[in-house]
Amino acid sequence: MRVLVTGGAGFIGSNFVHQTVRERPEVRVTVLDALTYAGDRESLAPVADKVTLVEGSITDAALVDSLVADSDLVVHFAAESHNDNSLNDPSPFVQTNLIGTFTLLEAVRKHGVRFHHISTDEVYGDLELDDPAKFTPDTPYNPSSPYSSTKAGSDLLVRAWVRSFGVQATISNCSNNYGPYQHIEKFIPRQITNLIDGVRPKLYGAGENVRDWIHVEDHNSAVWAIIERGRIGETYLIGADGEKNNLEVVETLLEIFGLAKDDFEHVKDRPGHDLRYAIDATKLRDELGWTPKYTDFESGLRATVDWYKANEAWWRPAKQATEAKYAAQGQ
Ligand code: NAD
Ligand code: TYD
Repeated sequence: MRVLVTGGAGFIGSNFVHQTVRERPEVRVTVLDALTYAGDRESLAPVADKVTLVEGSITDAALVDSLVADSDLVVHFAAESHNDNSLNDPSPFVQTNLIGTFTLLEAVRKHGVRFHHISTDEVYGDLELDDPAKFTPDTPYNPSSPYSSTKAGSDLLVRAWVRSFGVQATISNCSNNYGPYQHIEKFIPRQITNLIDGVRPKLYGAGENVRDWIHVEDHNSAVWAIIERGRIGETYLIGADGEKNNLEVVETLLEIFGLAKDDFEHVKDRPGHDLRYAIDATKLRDELGWTPKYTDFESGLRATVDWYKANEAWWRPAKQATEAKYAAQGQ
């Protein structure tokens, strides 16, 4: 099977490629990645001899057409993925998340290639902190930021291409991932690398916002379950019942580093900051028999801390510029 992985040099995509090479030796993997600030060739170094990396954009129709023509399956991870960046400059989000997805859809339509679209639970907006509800596949779309609205738009394009053109596609909307190779602009690796540097973790606002954490390996095993057993045209929500507020996450990290629970600082809140995300993954579990493996968040976090300690050469080059960007916005 020939699989084209877009965004395969990013966080979740590179973990997907590692998992695929490890567990599915019959699969031939080609990665299409623009190697933006978030993509790193080094994230594929351990599998470099088993994977073809093509540097290019998913908005390049001719390149996309030739790569899709030579594939049996496209797994589409490529995106601009960080909310804070989308608030500073939405333009690349519109280009990559909307135009890029459209470009891929036109190519899979032309060549009759199976498509799996990776998306986020943030398309549903947010839940109240005290609401017992969780997101389900029937929750109305209500995105808050340029990031989540462009992801929502890309999901709707996929649904329309399924219905109007018969494209063979599935969609997954996953909650917040953690694990190795995550860019240090994101919450967990930012705090881990701050702590390694002796800098106090930085919490937006009061730290009450809740995210539903899932280990990246569990996200990717669910993606394979959907590719292999999911029904065409369906949306599956991926989550592992990992709700934690940001304060709890920071306190757990401080404990792992042997520091006092209150050794952090509050910084400026994010405008439009979504309160709470929570996934009901019943459909995925019942219909496809998927279960997560990383159910102990604290041990998953410890392993992630160990990975960042052991792989400083991977993240160090981005640290200064990332923190300078946050400092300029009071975060
Ligand atoms: P990431 O920012 O780490 O990686 C994105 C990758 O896409 C990078 O390698 C980047 O170089 C590449 N890319 C960006 N623009 C491109 C373009 N125009 N053409 C080709 N490649 C391009 O993101 P991530 O966290 O790995 O997220 C991957 C996917 O998963 C995204 O679609 C995101 O919306 C979704 N998702 C992420 C999370 C999360 O917690 N990180 C949760 C749910 C869903
Ligand atoms: P993030 O990793 O950016 O993911 P998302 O916005 O997609 O959920 O942020 C996760 C949560 O952590 C979110 O509520 C914002 C918060 N946060 C902080 O408190 N401090 C930080 O330094 C960062 C980057 C995020």
